[in-house]
Amino acid sequence: MYSFKNDYSEGAHPQILKALMESNLVQEDGYGEDQYTLKAIELIKEKVGRTDVDVHLLTGGTQTNLTAISAFLRPHEAAISASTGHILGHETGAIEATGHKVLSVDCKDGKLTPDGVKAVLEGHPDEHMVKPKLVYISNSTEIGSIYKKEELKKLGGFCRENNLILYMDGARLGSALCSDENDLQLNDLPELVDAFYIGGTKNGALLGEALVICRDSLKADFRYHMKQKGAMLAKGRLLGIQFFELFRDNLFFDLAEHANRMAGMLREALIQAKVQFLTHSPSNQIFPIFPNSLIAELEKKYSFHVWEKVDADYSSIRLVTSWATKEEAVEGFIEELKKWM
Ligand SMILES: Cc1ncc(COP(=O)(O)O)c(C=O)c1O
Repeated sequence: MYSFKNDYSEGAHPQILKALMESNLVQEDGYGEDQYTLKAIELIKEKVGRTDVDVHLLTGGTQTNLTAISAFLRPHEAAISASTGHILGHETGAIEATGHKVLSVDCKDGKLTPDGVKAVLEGHPDEHMVKPKLVYISNSTEIGSIYKKEELKKLGGFCRENNLILYMDGARLGSALCSDENDLQLNDLPELVDAFYIGGTKNGALLGEALVICRDSLKADFRYHMKQKGAMLAKGRLLGIQFFELFRDNLFFDLAEHANRMAGMLREALIQAKVQFLTHSPSNQIFPIFPNSLIAELEKKYSFHVWEKVDADYSSIRLVTSWATKEEAVEGFIEELKKWM
């Protein structure tokens, strides 16, 4: 059984494990004050092209989202998310559990637009309702689509005009930035959004997300928020070592490129076989639509998520490739498909 279920099925890239091993017995300060974390933070600031941002290393996506969003909002304020957004459907109400409602906007390609956000603002005119204050997006999105620079500029501009915070979940930022269709660079982001995180967990790290806070007014006391939410690791060095390895040369981008290339091979073969897709997703997640009978056959050899029922006979599945997906496994899947199609 080979898994195309997600991009965290494997452990960590050997270069990261090696760095963890080699530093194992070095004594360091705790809670992110070790030399590895400090060096990783400097490196990330260099890569995002701004020395005035604050960078914090946390362990996972949900933890980063709930710690950041709850720190950025006042008690009566709410977040806005695409209806497919991870914080809405897949984080067990983590944001709501911090006291902040998440308001949903239907968008067919998973991407929020100024019009969608505007409609939410219009629907929340006064103090008898929560006050929409933070716009949550992810890049890539939950359904594998990516934001173009112009789209982010428009959304960011709208947020600034309306005094909203624009926050980008980058659990799969590597894949988004390495997509063939991408026109953004890591160092564009501080100009375009108020805070974002760079996902390590889904891109070759054992675990870890690097939150970058760009807007000054969001920076105060963030380490207090982290500690209170249980997000400050005593052995914070584990995160520092990993992010240093990811960014000291091109590993972060090489790994994301590999994942995208594997998804590209699958996508190409499916297009050749005239398979339809649920959505346009130029990143490491693809959503082909298959007859249910074919899905049942594929499930005997491969694991993946059955994503959405399309009609009585057809469903879309989600195929995710990772930094470690084997080319032979992709070829095997394509061969298997050919047998049945
Ligand atoms: C876009 C996005 N954000 C956040 C998360 C949550 O990450 P974690 O499972 O590490 O809490 C995920 C996980 O799949 C994700 O895809």
